[in-house]
Amino acid sequence: MGKVFVTRQTPGRAIEMLHAAGHEVDVWHEPTPPPPVVLAAKLAASDAALTMVVDAITPEMLDGAPNLRVLANMAVGYDNLNPAEAIRRGIAVTNTPGVLAETTADMAWALLMAGARNVVASERDTRAGGWTTWSPTAFLGQDVFGATLGIIGLGEIGEAMARRARGFDMRILYTSRTRKPEAESRLGLEFVSLDDLLRQSDFVSLHTPLSPETRYLIAARELSLMKPTALLVNTARGGVVDQDALIAALRAGSIGGAALDVTDPEPLPLDNPLYSFPNVVITPHIASASLATRSKMAEMAAANIIAVLAGRPAINPVA
Ligand code: DGY
Repeated sequence: MGKVFVTRQTPGRAIEMLHAAGHEVDVWHEPTPPPPVVLAAKLAASDAALTMVVDAITPEMLDGAPNLRVLANMAVGYDNLNPAEAIRRGIAVTNTPGVLAETTADMAWALLMAGARNVVASERDTRAGGWTTWSPTAFLGQDVFGATLGIIGLGEIGEAMARRARGFDMRILYTSRTRKPEAESRLGLEFVSLDDLLRQSDFVSLHTPLSPETRYLIAARELSLMKPTALLVNTARGGVVDQDALIAALRAGSIGGAALDVTDPEPLPLDNPLYSFPNVVITPHIASASLATRSKMAEMAAANIIAVLAGRPAINPVA
């Protein structure tokens, strides 16, 4: 039986599952992640690790962990794990596809609606005593129904977003590495180039993984193509957007606003200029944070560890 390091407390039955499979489980109980030096030492003593998106695994940590057989990320994204380096060393890398798309799309939709209709700015103003009368001109937002949504990255979450947009009678554009004719006809989508999507959309929602190809996919040039009223929604990864360019675009008023569940870095330091814009909504990387979904994610990660340590193939290998 193996030694499993779990880098945070998790909801659901994941720990129970690992114990039931006979493993020795070491859970990091602090509210913040194990610092790199601790993480390295824990990995060095483990056969498996159940990791979170905030655990940055370096090649040096992998070199120092001769017994490590599997890194099971409690996330669909796995850019934090240095997957190529891990796989090269024979360590399985797994993620949690299939269980968080709807929950994440719910949050992306909530951010889109919040940005479009000034939900956060007006709520803050109300608490601060700003609701002194009904005003015909206060907090005028944008209609979502009938508007154009641009989805960048048509994986499970992008598709879940498209399904929501259909209920709002939206025109739905998408761009993706591969064109998906079946999804186009099923969901009424139009495939366009990234530039056309940016030019035509009232709402641009990001759903790509972070990889060397997608880092800064949305930078100054791309932001300059967006409508001055358009809202950028990011529930993917902060690194997909060049944040300095985003701040410059918001300062110049060349886009309408941003609604961000992910930033670069995370947490976003309180002196970051993004906090100063009333047309920016920021949430703390919670798009998959429903109790049911986070429980399923943790249990899926545990199931992957149990499989690999039992000598079976990983259930959700990333490559
Ligand atoms: C993911 O799954 O990649 C999210 O960012 C964490 O919920």
